[in-house]
Amino acid sequence: MHKQKFCITILLILLLASCSQNEKKYRIGVSQCSDDIWRDKQNSELIIGAYFHENIELRFATADDSDERQVQQIDSLVNEGIDLLIVAPNQVSTISSAIDRAYDKGIPVIVFERKTSSKKYTAYMGADNYEIGRLMGEYVATRLNEHGRIIEVMGLEGSSPAIERHNGFREALEAHPGIQIVAALQGDWTEPTAYNNVKQWLAKNSGEKIDLVFGMNDRTAMGARKAFADVGGTLPLFCGIDGLPGENGGIVQVRDSLLDASYIYPTHGDQLIQLAVDILEGKPYEKETKLMSALVTRENARVLLMESDEILRQSHYIDQLHQKASGYLQQLANQRTLTFLALATIALLLLLLAGIYMYYLQRARIHDERTKMEREQLDFYTQVSHELRTPLTLIEGPLTQLAETQDMKNAGEETSGLFSIVRRNTHQLTQLINKMLDAQVGTSTPGLSSEQIDALTITQPITTESEIIEGDEDAPTVLLVDDNADIRAYLHSILQGKYRLLEAEDGQHGLDVAREHVPDLIVSDVMMPVMNGLEFCQQVKSDMITSHIPVILLTARALNQHQIEGYESGADAYITKPFSPELLKARISNLLHSRHQLKDLWGMPSVNDTSKPTMPTTQTSSAVEQLEDAFISRFKKIVEERMANSDLSVEDLAAEMRLSRVQLYRKVKALTGCTPVDLLRRARLSQAQHLLVTTEYTVSEIAYQVGFSSPSYFTKCYKDEYGMVPGDVRNKA
Ligand code: FRU
Repeated sequence: MHKQKFCITILLILLLASCSQNEKKYRIGVSQCSDDIWRDKQNSELIIGAYFHENIELRFATADDSDERQVQQIDSLVNEGIDLLIVAPNQVSTISSAIDRAYDKGIPVIVFERKTSSKKYTAYMGADNYEIGRLMGEYVATRLNEHGRIIEVMGLEGSSPAIERHNGFREALEAHPGIQIVAALQGDWTEPTAYNNVKQWLAKNSGEKIDLVFGMNDRTAMGARKAFADVGGTLPLFCGIDGLPGENGGIVQVRDSLLDASYIYPTHGDQLIQLAVDILEGKPYEKETKLMSALVTRENARVLLMESDEILRQSHYIDQLHQKASGYLQQLANQRTLTFLALATIALLLLLLAGIYMYYLQRARIHDERTKMEREQLDFYTQVSHELRTPLTLIEGPLTQLAETQDMKNAGEETSGLFSIVRRNTHQLTQLINKMLDAQVGTSTPGLSSEQIDALTITQPITTESEIIEGDEDAPTVLLVDDNADIRAYLHSILQGKYRLLEAEDGQHGLDVAREHVPDLIVSDVMMPVMNGLEFCQQVKSDMITSHIPVILLTARALNQHQIEGYESGADAYITKPFSPELLKARISNLLHSRHQLKDLWGMPSVNDTSKPTMPTTQTSSAVEQLEDAFISRFKKIVEERMANSDLSVEDLAAEMRLSRVQLYRKVKALTGCTPVDLLRRARLSQAQHLLVTTEYTVSEIAYQVGFSSPSYFTKCYKDEYGMVPGDVRNKA
């Protein structure tokens, strides 16, 4: 029952200790002077003691009775970074320097069992060796009935237990004069040294009667016993100190009468750990702790053995429990990790759900806002439509009245044309406003249906009006492309007189007209059926016949983005409606003017210039300019190839270029400022000039070679172009 409770308590302690995983881990260095069964027992007690404190880590070092090694070991423990040092000094003064160094570094030092000359230690724990020696002296006197001869085999010279046990032993025996110490032999706590030294002494003192040997520990006593046994004869009594449990321990040796008595020299490793923890945790502690113990004799050996065996069993049991608890703790740690992961996953899922929820909330909010905005917009439209009606009524009414007046009936064609545009459009606007109002009245939800939007679209009178060419033959030709006949009429009224005008009602038709007549400039709407203005403009700019024609886009689409689209389609200007007629006129004349930077095909080379005339080189590389260059190159090539033929006509050249005569004429004129006929003549003259300078042909021969029908006509043309007759060039050359 008790055992059960004990186990549960230990398990609980271990579990609790494991729970406090976050506590700081303490490293305790243990420096043992020797390696023997007494030290083994103490070390396992230290380990078990540490089980009760999960935050303790032990580091052991054993010096094997060497001062030098112990000094080194203490120094390296300190360097490893221990938090506390437990040390059993091999001798009193030999390792004091190492203890001082540890202490000076701020490391608490517990000296245990053997003393040191250093004052630099935090606490001392150990048995009273003087008292142990004294008690042994008293026992010996009693055991020998105050009469007897004894040998003392001492411990390591310079170690504090050896000194103190010796002093206590001598002190006790002083009161018993019948007890004679025949010899005090030096030992070093080990059995072989005691054996050797006793054997030597026996060899020198054979025949001496000895009643008792006091070995300062059980191993020394057993060594002495072996030496006596070797010699033979009646063995004296042997007493030792340590009284360890277990098979080779002093208690068994006393029970088996190998030793007469021993003294239990306490190890108490668990108590030592507790003292260390108290110091480390800043708890109160005893500076000097004296451990109490007892004598082992034949009378109590069996009982003590039973008890010590039980303790050993318990220790073993605790050890097993510890192993188990460690296993459980590991499982616990694994489960903790799993729980943590599970919780983290749940938390993430919750976050995700919250995120989704927020997203939907946000969407609903945006939807509500949009609905509200649309309603407000609709309200605004409704209001504006209503507001528009009043001024419109005030325009339409007086216009109707005006139409009835005599002045208007007598007005000229242009005035009445413009007047009817105004009336027609005012009427359309009124209809539009009415339709908008009707649509809104029938709308229960914001936004208009597609049927309602269709209903709002103004139906234009379908006009199939095509191109009209009128005006001065030499005036530049302008093509007006717009699906609204009134706009065309209005533009017409603005531009007539100064320009010859062509018209088309959509992009497709506009393209046909442009290709056929090659106008000098195009003004086009953007939003048109069949082909819109942007596509129309693009097509114009990518056709070799029309690519050079400047295009002005005239449109209600006023946003920057729309203008950008316009320029991207190749437009040369973008004018937004409503527009100022003056601005439009200025833009047209400006664009027409800037087209006059024309290409020089067969420039007038100097009379001394012997180089062959070449094509003007072009630095530009825009798509339109490349098209123009290609056109000019082709034209020039055809002219140069065919000019020798004096029957060559403009129709021939146009057919060769796969163009109509008008197309060729207008394209060539637009690009060079010259007519094809002029250019053909200049090409012939230029070639003639070249031949005059570089060959021996006669003037007549050259005239025929370059395609003039007669030398006299050649001479006339030559003089007109270069201001001299061909013969002059020959004479110079
Ligand atoms: C163990 C030991 C014991 C002895 C003690 C003296 O190392 O030798 O046998 O009683 O040390 O310090």
